[in-house]
Amino acid sequence: MSIDRYGKWKAAEAAKEARRAKRAEKRAKGEELSDWEDDPDAPGSVSEEDSVGMVLAKTLLILVLVFMLSGKFVTDSLVWGYDGKWVHWRTYWPFEGSGSLFTEEMLAKYDGSNPNLPIYLAIDGDVYDVSANRHTYGPGGSYHLMAGIDAARSFGTGCFKDHRTHDLRGLDEGEMKGVEHWKAFFKRSDKYPFVGKVIHPPIDPMSPTPIHCDENKRNPPKQTQGPAKRPEL
Ligand code: HEM
Repeated sequence: MSIDRYGKWKAAEAAKEARRAKRAEKRAKGEELSDWEDDPDAPGSVSEEDSVGMVLAKTLLILVLVFMLSGKFVTDSLVWGYDGKWVHWRTYWPFEGSGSLFTEEMLAKYDGSNPNLPIYLAIDGDVYDVSANRHTYGPGGSYHLMAGIDAARSFGTGCFKDHRTHDLRGLDEGEMKGVEHWKAFFKRSDKYPFVGKVIHPPIDPMSPTPIHCDENKRNPPKQTQGPAKRPEL
């Protein structure tokens, strides 16, 4: 028996002894004894501490059941229609970075066009379930263009139509901050559970960067210069 368990056992024995003494004293005075639970030696007798704990646990359980059943009755949902991350099992999965792996094609299926599927959105590789906000990310929603895809670039530039890509090459400092802001927004969101990662094929470094929707931010096309000429001697 460990020291801790021994200590607890000793305390419980002392409490029992006190109850026995109290009963003996009552008996000696000819007073009536209350029900059998007061007898520490009765089968199934519980300590006072245990019984308070049991009452609290039962009360809590009853309150939770009442809350869930009334939710089912009023909103047809045991959790009152809440669909945030706390009701998704992945939130409680202890392994960091776990989750599903998506190809871009797989992710595209979750753009909200199929009402029986959840809506997923990716930002810089991280996939989130945004079904809790179907009216925003589903068809006709103001941010539907971000659904079913990793449109990280558009989070930085605001070019929702033209920058539906994870390609972040050439973003300026402010735009990169925008991407980081939205990455952090989804990461700490209570509404949108993390679902997994999307695997992108590598970006060809020689391919042109996507054209900005804001004319003022379009970089002048870079002149391809040949090797520097050797000055004439
Ligand atoms: C770089 C530019 C922008 C980005 C990346 C962006 C991104 C977003 C995102 C991701 C949401 C959804 C938040 C959530 O899921 O709760 C949102 C919501 C919203 N944004 Fe933007 N936004 C931008 C600019 C703007 C601008 C300029 C306006 C106003 C003209 C605007 C108006 C709104 C509104 C009204 C909502 C709430 C929509 C709703 O819940 O239905 N946003 N924004």
